[in-house]
Amino acid sequence: MNLQSKRILITGVGIKPVGHVFKDITTGESSHTPVFDGTTEYKANIGAATALECAKAGAVVHLVSRTADKLQIVKNWIEKEIPEARVEFSAVDLSDTKQLKKLAEDLPDDLPLYWVQSVGLGAGTVKVKDDNPYLLIDEIPHELVEAELSVLTNTITFLQLLLPRFRKQKESRVCIISSMSAVRSFASGSIHNAAKGAISRFANAAMIELDRDKIFVSDVRPGGVDTGMYDSKVVQDTVRRISQNFNYSDIHYAPPSAVGQAIVLALSSDAHITSVNMVGRGQWPHEGS
Ligand SMILES: NC(=O)c1ccc[n+]([C@@H]2O[C@H](COP(=O)([O-])OP(=O)(O)OC[C@H]3O[C@@H](n4cnc5c(N)ncnc54)[C@H](OP(=O)(O)O)[C@@H]3O)[C@@H](O)[C@H]2O)c1
Repeated sequence: MNLQSKRILITGVGIKPVGHVFKDITTGESSHTPVFDGTTEYKANIGAATALECAKAGAVVHLVSRTADKLQIVKNWIEKEIPEARVEFSAVDLSDTKQLKKLAEDLPDDLPLYWVQSVGLGAGTVKVKDDNPYLLIDEIPHELVEAELSVLTNTITFLQLLLPRFRKQKESRVCIISSMSAVRSFASGSIHNAAKGAISRFANAAMIELDRDKIFVSDVRPGGVDTGMYDSKVVQDTVRRISQNFNYSDIHYAPPSAVGQAIVLALSSDAHITSVNMVGRGQWPHEGS
């Protein structure tokens, strides 16, 4: 898998503290992707792990989120793992159209640009009790509805800004990280399922509309991934209850690096990989059922 001479823009790069260690069902090893800043260990999120995998495949990576300090830690981590890596970053709020326009204008145009959209709410974008976004319908605050839907809004706005550049390229690739939650509904997931369903349908319509411009969109649907958002006890208890609805007593998470590897395949394949469904081994593999 080769991404040399490509610049991969990854929106939604971050890290979280290690609050709990989950184990892979097969290897018994921890299922997170560790990022070290000195002796402090963090969990990579999907964007950070994807950046590392893209850099391994030879790409120049451009990392985006709102928090420069975290982006600097991820940049240092990638450069330590791959000394020849070229890592750029911009601290930008994707909800701010002015900042988005500036980012789109400032991105260097010496290489073809591909885009991985991995922005999410797991980094505390909206304050919910006990950091638990999996709420019964009666408990959902309006701010959570707004925040969940803002990811779709940001995705459309930024794609609109990038399309003129993409149309000039020989080909372009876009991976939109939606979720298995788009097709695998569960009690306490109503707003999350609805928001992920919306972005997944957007990705599907976009791939049909843009295919003729050689802009190849992939919808990436991971199940639960060990990025730190499940570490608190309240979230673990909630997810355990959801597991029981699928007749599982517990949950096993996929490592973010596995999602990153699937994304590298979608970005570099000689085919257009339209969608990817993936769950951690031993997690409920229910695709819409
Ligand atoms: N983790 C999972 O189990 C899982 C499973 C399936 C799908 N997904 C989806 O995959 C995507 C990534 O999930 P994740 O768990 O890796 O990451 P995450 O922690 O939910 O968030 C990704 C990043 O988005 C950034 N962000 C949020 N709002 C932003 C904004 N307005 N502008 C710029 N950056 C913003 C945050 O950084 P800052 O706060 O520093 O800006 C954060 O690092 C999400 O869409 C998520 O729903 C996750």
